[in-house]
Amino acid sequence: MSLRVLCLSGPNLQLLGTREPEIYGTTTLAQLHARLKARGKELGATVTCKQSNHEGELLDWIGAARGKQDGLLLNAAALTHTSLALMDAIKAVAIPCVEVHLSNPEAREAYRRESFIARACVGKVSGFGADSYLLALEGLVGRLLRK
Ligand code: DQA
Repeated sequence: MSLRVLCLSGPNLQLLGTREPEIYGTTTLAQLHARLKARGKELGATVTCKQSNHEGELLDWIGAARGKQDGLLLNAAALTHTSLALMDAIKAVAIPCVEVHLSNPEAREAYRRESFIARACVGKVSGFGADSYLLALEGLVGRLLRK
């Protein structure tokens, strides 16, 4: 049976491709999702991709994932640095989650150095642009298969 992975992206990531390309690159979210699903197929994983600008919607999707998804990839965008609720949601569903960022937040402004999400995650991939998502998927699937 195929592994099930849910990939969630947070606020403003629907603008990828044109949003500050010097930081986030020129790959659109649709292109990124297509690459992720294709790599998932090669790895034996079905990847479902969603994006929302609304914290509550992200919380609802995480909350509904229990028993339906084997792993999570989460780029919570700016909510990474503010959301206790997302941290609690990941802990609550007890599904392995990898934190993902296109940029390397720790090398940027001081206010991006804190991640609430990190406390609930099994790992993190940041700084590799769109490839961060693919590397995170590979790490997550490897971990799920070892279990
Ligand atoms: C981001 C980094 C965050 O600090 C920022 O708020 C984003 C994108 C990234 O993927 O590099 O929106 O999560």
